[in-house]
Amino acid sequence: MRTYHVITFGCQMNKHDSEHIAGLLESRLGLVRAEDAEHADVVVFNTCAVREGAEERLIGQVSALKPLKALNPNLVIAVGGCVAQHERSRLFQMLPHVDVVFGTHNIPELPDLIARAASGTPALSVPDEPSLDVERTPSIRETRWHAWLPIAVGCDNWCSYCIVPRTRGRERSRPFDEVVAEAERLVADGVVEITLLGQNVNSYGRDLYGKPRFAEILRAVARTGVKRLRFVTSHPKDLSDDTLRAMAEEPAVCEYLHLPAQSGSTRILRAMNRGYSKEQYLAAVERAYELVPGLALSGDVIVGFPGETEQDFEETLDLVQRCQYDQLFTFLYSPRPGTRAAQLPETVPSAIAQDRFERLTELVRDSALEKNRRLVGSTVEVLVEGPSRKDQDMLAGRTRTNKLVHAPFPAGADPASLEGTFLAVRVVEAHAWHLMGEVAGYQRQ
Ligand code: SAH
Ligand code: SF4
Ligand code: F3S
Repeated sequence: MRTYHVITFGCQMNKHDSEHIAGLLESRLGLVRAEDAEHADVVVFNTCAVREGAEERLIGQVSALKPLKALNPNLVIAVGGCVAQHERSRLFQMLPHVDVVFGTHNIPELPDLIARAASGTPALSVPDEPSLDVERTPSIRETRWHAWLPIAVGCDNWCSYCIVPRTRGRERSRPFDEVVAEAERLVADGVVEITLLGQNVNSYGRDLYGKPRFAEILRAVARTGVKRLRFVTSHPKDLSDDTLRAMAEEPAVCEYLHLPAQSGSTRILRAMNRGYSKEQYLAAVERAYELVPGLALSGDVIVGFPGETEQDFEETLDLVQRCQYDQLFTFLYSPRPGTRAAQLPETVPSAIAQDRFERLTELVRDSALEKNRRLVGSTVEVLVEGPSRKDQDMLAGRTRTNKLVHAPFPAGADPASLEGTFLAVRVVEAHAWHLMGEVAGYQRQ
């Protein structure tokens, strides 16, 4: 029996695409999943180009498969995703033992490309035209209880540092009714948590209906009977009161908002082409806390963007301090070939960027810990994801506010049967990035 293995880098959209890759390889080629690349006849890399580090890891991992190719001459190595979309045929020069290169818009074509490559000729197909066809192909979900549900693909924002508009194409929304019908099917299939996906999720509908319909689709999906509804990624300039009200009013919509600021300096935000000032971002956050009770907030920040001075960075520290984030993803700026920012001359020395990165991380650790301390003694609803990676006797799960919770499995409980179920957990200890708890009772079984 021929087998496959998929290795995924990057964002949630890539994770979801990999579920379709698995679905296509199983249904069209009859392949069976292998636990690792060493035992696979077809290895697919679904790649990310957002920062240089991800590309370097890809090159390392593909090169490491060279000896396997010598052992198994029938092994097919396919590379797709954002690096493939960007590099196209150059990938064959970078990595000569790759057999198939496919783009982000033509995943449904992958089985044919693999079949072609199996006859000995490398196969390349990277169309430019964005397509939503992949959503109409089979997929195999990572878990039975959670589903990614893309409502739009691509991005029209052209942030000056970002490669995504080049690798994912123009923004395209899926028809409203099609999304709702898919959500209904997922719920009927046992899914209890759905995450709506889009690079700029809260501008959903603008291209298709001439106006954003995000709040509307959020409410419609919330009413399918799904227990928890999340969405990523929201752009601050498109955050509306309608969306915040839908979050507050629809019980299924989790009180969790990921709202990347990227910087706290209005001057840098302008250079980044973000479309808002520091004050506008802070006003959006204030409104979100005001309208959504119990809101948890997370964000992204890039440090070391070209031209960022100590004063600009202090504005970022100030913004982060004021936002009281529950979680912050901090990135060192990485110049991406072809983007506007990559041409800016005033690069920040890496030692300075690293120092800023550490100062920021420390600040967020303090505010996250402070917020988590307030939860000690309370009981939270936890959706169990499985055993904790570090300790098999502990369960790992998430609150509605997306906080990671660890707690000992209840005595006598079968860990596997708890996966994807809700438990009431009493918080006994707060850490910056997770909570420790005790199971207080079963819920919603
Ligand atoms: N569409 C989403 C996700 C974009 S990529 C959004 O707009 O938030 C996820 C994060 O990676 C971005 O929010 C940004 O903080 C970071 N990022 C993007 N390009 C980068 C670059 N060139 N260098 C460093 N970080 C980058
Ligand atoms: Fe990139 Fe900006 Fe689009 Fe996000 S909104 S994907 S950061 S261009
Ligand atoms: Fe990376 Fe592409 Fe996602 S560049 S972050 S995999 S859209």
